[in-house]
Amino acid sequence: VNHLLGIKHISAADIQLIFETADHFKEVINRPIRKVPSLRDVTIANLFFENSTRTRLSFELAEKRLSADVVNFSASSSSVNKGETLIDTVNNILAMKVDMVVMRHPNPGAGVFLSKHVDASIVNAGDGTHEHPTQALLDTYSIREKLGEVKGKKIVIVGDILHSRVALSNIFCLQKLGAEVKVCGPNTLIPQHIKSLGVEVEHNLDQALQWCDVANMLRVQNERMSTRYFPSTREYVAQFGLDKQRLEQINKSIVIMHPGPINRGVEISSDIADSHHAIILNQVENGVAIRMAILYLLASKLKHYSAETL
Ligand code: CP
Repeated sequence: VNHLLGIKHISAADIQLIFETADHFKEVINRPIRKVPSLRDVTIANLFFENSTRTRLSFELAEKRLSADVVNFSASSSSVNKGETLIDTVNNILAMKVDMVVMRHPNPGAGVFLSKHVDASIVNAGDGTHEHPTQALLDTYSIREKLGEVKGKKIVIVGDILHSRVALSNIFCLQKLGAEVKVCGPNTLIPQHIKSLGVEVEHNLDQALQWCDVANMLRVQNERMSTRYFPSTREYVAQFGLDKQRLEQINKSIVIMHPGPINRGVEISSDIADSHHAIILNQVENGVAIRMAILYLLASKLKHYSAETL
């Protein structure tokens, strides 16, 4: 059975295949008739044990555009609240003849754990602070679309790196495609091991912006903090918040990204988030094509479809 559990163990060739397949689906979803029959007879369960807007809706739309049968599950309104385990929950859903499971879960490694215990294709839609592979693929695809290629480009990921599955998956994906990656943020929000991934740390946002082609601004994830972190929000905004004044100080044009949800006025000001510098909504648009590509490629193996059925 095939899974997408993270970016760490997939190859650059696999990423390129996903991008080429997404190119095709992006063209499909811009046609007047946006639906294709590719996943007819495939049943997919979207299991969300943690809140989501973009990822959940994007997967559901991708599945429906591919003509899959879709069931949605939110832990907050389920029998998880009566004490049912993850494996029992998923095996009960699979007993209803489900082929693939898209899962978001607060525990790092939840997708890997599940893939070892259930007989279905698992797609990780974000597992705690570990990986968010589809976000990294749509982010990197959006850079490729905007700048022509990823190889040789300089990307800085700014903010709460410590709690960010988006940062880790982006680092793996961008490096596999030959980009140079730096992270920028307060010491308290940068994990110790980051340099072992070949990533440089920059604590001065102005210098990081001067260096980069692309700045990916992350949200400070207050919900994952076990204690109060330093600096305070006011200090964070002063040192690491991106606003018009800061962007005007650098003498070149850079691409601004954000995975959402945005804390407007904290990591990024509204005038920049809504400006022509930002590709935030292009990232969201590309997310549907990227998820269609991933589901299609996984289901192709599942159902022994050939690439010609695209
Ligand atoms: N970027 C992202 O994962 O957003 P959601 O949490 O809304 O899915």
